[in-house]
Amino acid sequence: MERIIITGALGQIGTELTLKLRDIYGEENVLPTDIKKPESSALKGKTFEILDIRDADRLSELVTAFKPDTIMHMAALLSATCEKDPKLAWDINMGGLINALEVARNHNLKFFTPSSIGAFGPSTPKENTPQVTIQRPTSMYGVNKVSGELLCDYYFSKFGVDTRGVRFPGLISHVKEPGGGTTDYAVEIFFEAVKNGRYTSYIDKNTNMDMMYMDDAVDAIIQLMEADADRLENRNAFNVTAMSINPEMVANEIRKHIPGFKLEYDVDPIRQGIAESWPNVIDSTEAVKQWDFNPQYNLAKMTEIMLQAIRNKQ
Ligand SMILES: NC(=O)c1ccc[n+]([C@@H]2O[C@H](COP(=O)([O-])OP(=O)(O)OC[C@H]3O[C@@H](n4cnc5c(N)ncnc54)[C@H](O)[C@@H]3O)[C@@H](O)[C@H]2O)c1
Repeated sequence: MERIIITGALGQIGTELTLKLRDIYGEENVLPTDIKKPESSALKGKTFEILDIRDADRLSELVTAFKPDTIMHMAALLSATCEKDPKLAWDINMGGLINALEVARNHNLKFFTPSSIGAFGPSTPKENTPQVTIQRPTSMYGVNKVSGELLCDYYFSKFGVDTRGVRFPGLISHVKEPGGGTTDYAVEIFFEAVKNGRYTSYIDKNTNMDMMYMDDAVDAIIQLMEADADRLENRNAFNVTAMSINPEMVANEIRKHIPGFKLEYDVDPIRQGIAESWPNVIDSTEAVKQWDFNPQYNLAKMTEIMLQAIRNKQ
């Protein structure tokens, strides 16, 4: 990888990914794009282009001008948002993906896009969910993610596009707020703990979901993209995770730093329904075996860093 264009760069992942890629590959070799302007973003004031991923011509123009060797496609609607407008979700998530894949095919670009644990469904085995298993998701987001995984595999086998991808769990970060996913509680809880000493969770007590700290997620993207192609038996849809947690577990960890922290519940049936259709813990051994996936943050370490970073911000 030498020169990278990013779609959806103002999102929770795209923001930190852009910053890290600029550090490694040089500022002039990274072009972030998004449908909106970077007004209050950490990316404000540097090179940036507006791009609606549904506009294939504009994407092609940008790629022709910037001449990247890699596209990282982050533009998407997330799980809770998809349920509010499933048709719009299909247009952006699937229409956007095929536009990005086509530009990769026509300009010979390496390609990365994330799938999600949302690609699993209620009939998927819930414990140690294998990478290759039953995938019959019941949410629009899940339908998009399974279709996307297959489409990326298809572009590799049919056209030889170097597509690579992971299934991310919920991602926890303090730089940019999350964009409407089912796992957002695991970010909000830290902010509310510092601000108010209490949090009301929309996800129920004992609902375990996989999570990962953002630094590990960004490192995983770069590691997979730099991995030797000969080692990859799979291309897309690598399971990756660092921890399986529920709201009580996060609260108990927070109490080690903020002893009076109070956790209450007001369960949202839509997001709780999505969470219950996802695995409790996925198995990421293929990522470890094929490209040395090696997350550094567990719940304790992540809690310490999240609380400190949020305190520093205030
Ligand atoms: N954050 C997570 O916990 C998580 C977990 C698993 C998978 N993922 C996947 O990672 C990718 C990025 O997620 P994220 O968390 O950064 O999402 P996000 O919602 O924070 O960011 C998505 C970005 O896409 C932009 N966007 C929306 N519509 C667009 C369009 N039509 N054209 C161009 N840009 C558009 C938004 O403005 C936003 O900046 C998505 O594919 C998502 O499904 C995220």
